[in-house]
Amino acid sequence: MDTKHEPDLKILAIIAALILVLAIAFVYTQQNYQSNKKNLSFTIAGKFNLTDHNGTEKTHTDFGDKYKLIYFGFTYCPAICPTELAKMTAALERLTPEKSAQIQPLFITIDPERDTPEALKSYVSLFHPNLIGLTGTVDQINTVKKTYRIYAKKVQDETLNDYTMDHSSYIYFMTPKDELISIYRTMDTANTILNDINKQLENN
Ligand code: NI
Repeated sequence: MDTKHEPDLKILAIIAALILVLAIAFVYTQQNYQSNKKNLSFTIAGKFNLTDHNGTEKTHTDFGDKYKLIYFGFTYCPAICPTELAKMTAALERLTPEKSAQIQPLFITIDPERDTPEALKSYVSLFHPNLIGLTGTVDQINTVKKTYRIYAKKVQDETLNDYTMDHSSYIYFMTPKDELISIYRTMDTANTILNDINKQLENN
């Protein structure tokens, strides 16, 4: 064995280890950068192609210069959907009529098999006169769910001979160009939404 080469091997091992650490750090940084970019691209992807509660086809471009408040749910929902839609209504009712006219509230169903335009029509009328219900084919609803990253799944309800829907509950505040301004969760209040709308409309 030639002992003269031992120190060289140690140095080589240290250099190799350093290169490995740098390579891992580089890959990690790149991955973070990519996932941040993915999150940003979501803010300009609020497109949809659906049917409203009067049976008219509607896309995201059919609401002119209005900002959108969008909630995803289903009419059979026993508690969370009505609470969140009532919250949206409360925020709209506290706006001045001029500002309220600049907001389009939308209810998009995640249960298109039961939520027909007719079913949506009587349901949305319980909340706000400007609220528009939107439904579509199963494929159309799956597409909009993906766009807005909505989770929804059929669950068999053992107390009924029917199913219920397990679903995420978010209110989206979108610009007229369908860019995300804010997302509200169940713990956010009508006043939080109201303040954000006022702030947004005053900045324009
Ligand atoms: Ni619900």
